[in-house]
Amino acid sequence: MERTLAIIKPDVIQKKKVGEVISMIEKKFDIIAMKMVKISKDEAIEFYIEHKGKDFFDKLIEFITSGPIIPMVIQGENVIKEFRNFVGDTDPQKAKEGTIRKIFGENLPRNAIHASDSKTSAIREIRFFFDAI
Ligand code: PPS
Repeated sequence: MERTLAIIKPDVIQKKKVGEVISMIEKKFDIIAMKMVKISKDEAIEFYIEHKGKDFFDKLIEFITSGPIIPMVIQGENVIKEFRNFVGDTDPQKAKEGTIRKIFGENLPRNAIHASDSKTSAIREIRFFFDAI
């Protein structure tokens, strides 16, 4: 069994599409923890620290702190890879039909959802948002 971290981003909450996104996720995956939070700029920088220095970094931080977000832990076999495929390409314009980013995303950084990209990231990112699971 693997676990991954997903984050429903501020654009989805602003558009009142949270229910639709969660419904799509739970049809295929098991959500074992979830909450709504607003993170500070410093917390966002810590979360995305590996991307610090990239040209899009400031835009990404501004967006992820622009409103509440919904981090959640999803559990299943091979879930890190399967969930990444399910959400689609990072850039919604390149995402395949039927994926969350294609349906609910617009552009970068407004791409609807985050998904951990590796086991190491998943462990770190789950710890970042959830203490005791
Ligand atoms: S990289 O450079 O390949 O490591 O970047 P990538 O893995 O594609 O993306 C890392 C996160 O940065 C976001 N991102 C952007 N934000 C704003 N503008 C631009 N151009 C941009 N490109 C990438 C991207 O959404 C990733 O965050 P998450 O939360 O995983 O979606």
